[in-house]
Order: sequence, then structure tokens, then C-alpha cells
Amino acid sequence: MNCSPLSQIQKRLFAWGMSKANEADDRTLQSIGHPHFLNLAQLKQSLLGKLRGRVLEIGPGAGANFKYYHPEIEWVGIEPNPFMYPHLEAEAQRYGLTQVRIETGTAEHLQVEENSIDAVVSTHVLCSVRDLDRALDEIERVLKPNGRFVFLEHVAACSGTWTRHVQNGVAPLWTNLFDRCHPNRETAAAIDRSRFTEIQYHDFQLSFPIVSPHIAGFAVKGGG
Ligand SMILES: C[S@@+](CC[C@H](N)C(=O)[O-])C[C@H]1O[C@@H](n2cnc3c(N)ncnc32)[C@H](O)[C@@H]1O
Repeated sequence: MNCSPLSQIQKRLFAWGMSKANEADDRTLQSIGHPHFLNLAQLKQSLLGKLRGRVLEIGPGAGANFKYYHPEIEWVGIEPNPFMYPHLEAEAQRYGLTQVRIETGTAEHLQVEENSIDAVVSTHVLCSVRDLDRALDEIERVLKPNGRFVFLEHVAACSGTWTRHVQNGVAPLWTNLFDRCHPNRETAAAIDRSRFTEIQYHDFQLSFPIVSPHIAGFAVKGGG
């Protein structure tokens, strides 16, 4: 972990920025090319609103997803940036979730028992993990048989496209500015080669600059 004063300031600023982003209306972010949903709010409602039981969210940030969860879920958040924690607690309370546990950690090393979680959630996190394949293995490990990994992630644009050239060009600066986020990460390919038995997602664009290409869907752990 980098504990330099500069890194701590960056992490604090990032947490503040994420908490401000919570105030944005997800309905204003159009999902272009998605076959079923018109905007981010509809998409998240459909992915997260149905989840029940023990839900583990990796990299929950400042708690942008609490507004979509059923209040009776048992929620565990694994978040490496401690400056997010007060925002997470406030948002959980605001949306009536009472069974909430926040833990320090990373998706690559989940301190969670195997076969113990009903659903794992990741929204805009896999772009930042240090080891994507390992994180996917860990997510699969902790899920119960038939458990669901639900994801919404920005991904690399197709090679050779103008957007991909821009993503590749800005990547070194972008990664430093935005807490190790990789704008050109091939997350869909990593999910496709993971251990999950059933994988379903759609490609679409969100109305963001540079990181517009997205995937959203779910993957199921086998063995049920
Ligand atoms: C762009 S933010 C997204 C936050 C939230 N999921 C959302 O959709 O608003 C990325 C989050 O992933 C966290 N993160 C970065 N590396 C991580 C890792 N290896 N494991 C788990 N979380 C990580 C960051 O601290 C941050 O909270």
C-alpha cells in the first residue's frame, strides 16, 4: 500500500469526488445501444434491485449503489480506500440498509469464506484492480454454487477504433490521475475466460467521454 502524503491526499480527493458524483442523477446518463435500458438508473435497478441475501460489493466507493439495493440485504463492502468509509456509512443509512459491514481489503484477496455469498457486485472497479484474473477467481471462490457475479464496467474500445487510440494514448496519465483506473482494459475478455459457467452481458455505451464503451450483465458460479 502506498502511504505517501501525496497518495493519501489523492485518495481523500478521490473519495470526495465520488461522494459528489453520488448526487448526480443516473437517469441523465444514457445507455446508448443497450437493447433493454435507456439509462444508467434503469440498468442498475435491473441488476441490483433483485439481489437478496448476503451481497458482497467490491470497491463500493462512496456508496453510489445503495439506492438500488433492497434494504433487507446483508451487505458486505470490501474497499481499500478508508476515506470512502464515512460516505458509505451515510449512504447506507440514507437508504435504510441496516445490515452493513465495511472491510478494508482488495478484490484480489477477499478475506471471506468460500461458498458463502449469494451475489458479488462490481461497478466500475475491475478497471482498477491490480490483477484482474485473480480478482475474478476470488469472486468465484466466495460465491455459493449458483451465486451471481453482477457487473457493470467500462471496457476497452475495439482495437483500431478512434476511441481505442485515445484510450491507449491517455492511459498512463489517466491511470495516475484516477486511482489506477485503466481506460483500455480488456475486462470482457477476462470475464469470458473466467471459471464462471454461465456468462451473460450486453455491450453498450454510456454517455461519458473516453470510457464510453461498457459491459453490464452477470456470471453464474456452477456446481449448484
Ligand atoms: C471508480 S470507483 C467506483 C466506485 C463504485 N463502485 C461506484 O460505482 O461508484 C473504483 C473503486 O474501486 C476501489 N478499488 C480500487 N482497487 C481495488 C481493488 N483492488 N479491490 C477492490 N476495490 C478496489 C477504489 O477504492 C474505488 O472505491
